[in-house]
Amino acid sequence: MAAAYEFIDHEYDVVVVGAGGSGLRAALGAAQQGLKVACVTKVFPTRSHTVAAQGGISASLGNMGEDSWQWHMYDTVKGSDWLGDQDAIEYLVRNAPKAVYELEHWGVPFSRTDEGKIYQRAFGGMTRNFGEGPVQRTCAAADRTGHAILHTLYGQSVRREVKFFVEYFALDLIMQDGACTGLTALQLDTGQLHRFRAKMVILATGGYGRAYFSATSAHTCTGDGNAMVLRAGLPLQDMEFVQFHPTGIYGAGCLITEGARGEGGYLTNSEGERFMERYAPTVKDLAPRDMVSRSMTIEIREGRGVGPNKDHIHLHLDHLDPKILHERLPGISESAKIFAGVDVTKQPIPVLPTVHYNMGGIPTNYHGEVLTKVGDNADTVVPGLMAVGEAACVSVHGANRLGSNSLTDLVVFGRAAGLRCGEVVDKASAVPSAPASATDEHLARLDRFRHANGSTPTSKLRIEMQRAMQSDAAVFRTGKTLEEGVAKLRAIHAGGADIKTTDRGLIWNTDLVETMEYDNLIDQALVTIEGALNRTESRGAHAREDYPDRDDVNWMKHTLAWKVPGDAVKIDYRPVHNYTMSDEVSYIEPKARVY
Ligand code: FUM
Repeated sequence: MAAAYEFIDHEYDVVVVGAGGSGLRAALGAAQQGLKVACVTKVFPTRSHTVAAQGGISASLGNMGEDSWQWHMYDTVKGSDWLGDQDAIEYLVRNAPKAVYELEHWGVPFSRTDEGKIYQRAFGGMTRNFGEGPVQRTCAAADRTGHAILHTLYGQSVRREVKFFVEYFALDLIMQDGACTGLTALQLDTGQLHRFRAKMVILATGGYGRAYFSATSAHTCTGDGNAMVLRAGLPLQDMEFVQFHPTGIYGAGCLITEGARGEGGYLTNSEGERFMERYAPTVKDLAPRDMVSRSMTIEIREGRGVGPNKDHIHLHLDHLDPKILHERLPGISESAKIFAGVDVTKQPIPVLPTVHYNMGGIPTNYHGEVLTKVGDNADTVVPGLMAVGEAACVSVHGANRLGSNSLTDLVVFGRAAGLRCGEVVDKASAVPSAPASATDEHLARLDRFRHANGSTPTSKLRIEMQRAMQSDAAVFRTGKTLEEGVAKLRAIHAGGADIKTTDRGLIWNTDLVETMEYDNLIDQALVTIEGALNRTESRGAHAREDYPDRDDVNWMKHTLAWKVPGDAVKIDYRPVHNYTMSDEVSYIEPKARVY
């Protein structure tokens, strides 16, 4: 097998996989430490999914009124429904202002207040004085904040001489004796295979929203790094927690930023009622996403949806000053016109909760180091491997992420990973080498899909998986829907044995790449739905109708899920960190989540 495929070899101190916000920030950070850094990415860096992030990046700058990192920490812990690790959350919120100012100094064109400070808007679950009411904490570049950050970070990475390998599809991690020593990748335009040897591999491969039928995520969001981790025999954490963003455009799934509600937008049902006043009397439409998505779903289920089929909700911006809409929400005004045919100055936007973010992912500590469980030690560091961004589960978002904490996560932990590389990567040591046999399974998998000659096209399995996830691992779940979902997904997974590809070449073989992406997705779909069936409580985005209450006695713990040969999933647990990073703040005790 190996003889049939030749590798081109590369050696780096650090190889980052993925060029979104976290990947670029980590690559740049490692380069700042004087390390030789490569970034391997399946799309051109500025096309990474961070480009689609709209509303902003949270940091307690206090530009629009009083704010503090302690309030931000409280909101994030409460938003996480007490599944977030409080040491990591403290690290996030304390470093957020520094990370935002750094972006500003590198050139991110943030919107400005009249005094010239960075403009900040309100976002869901972000409050003043431990829940008293909304606070303006989300720093914005109109509604194109991710776009602005991504372009700036790319420019800075080029300046720091990060070497980019663009349109390279990562295949698998090279693992030796439990340590990562590199990865393999397929160069899409030539079909050439590459072997990257490295002292540190950083996975920044994003989420896997495309396991679902309707998602705000780009079609490239197939969680390739997560799947590589599963194939390396390592666990993923808290995969049952999938975030539905309340305002995806009905039918199209495109994102309408929560910043729209931050600027004063509100939701109504078929009776014209601002129903969020009933569900979250203090913060109303600015409740966290899990609560707003559940409230919208209840309104629709109880017959108060809008439209001919009463199956969606209206988002109103038509009462806002058109000048504000033009200045602060130009992108979503255009999206609403293109994808819903709506003039936001005159008509409401039809919206529906849409899959948006994966709280779960590759377990890491707040330095970005990947963790696994060995014996009783659930914080065992995997040498040579880090993960950042949506691919990682630090875990700062716990069971539910607050809007605008994601961009913060990307740059704070991207920066942390770069700093850690400076501490643990020895510039003077040799780059580890691996025997040819270490990549045999990578090549066997590639070859199997390239020559797959069954009777089921990849597209058929993919749509079946997406529909099963959409209906059975939805905003509300029950044991029955989840059991049905597990059975469907196991059957779909087994269907992979009969898969058919038609292009046998290697140059721009999109048939092959989509098949490997599907294979990545189906493994993640399985661990997601098995984890959801296993967790018999409701917490954050995981709402079990048969177990409606949060159960801190039995379930205040992280799920770890391993994929074992065949379609089986092995589940174990890690404790939630019930301690903080410093003595300056104490552990925030769990309580009811009322807004
Ligand atoms: O609604 C938004 O602009 C999305 C932000 C986020 O997911 O953090």
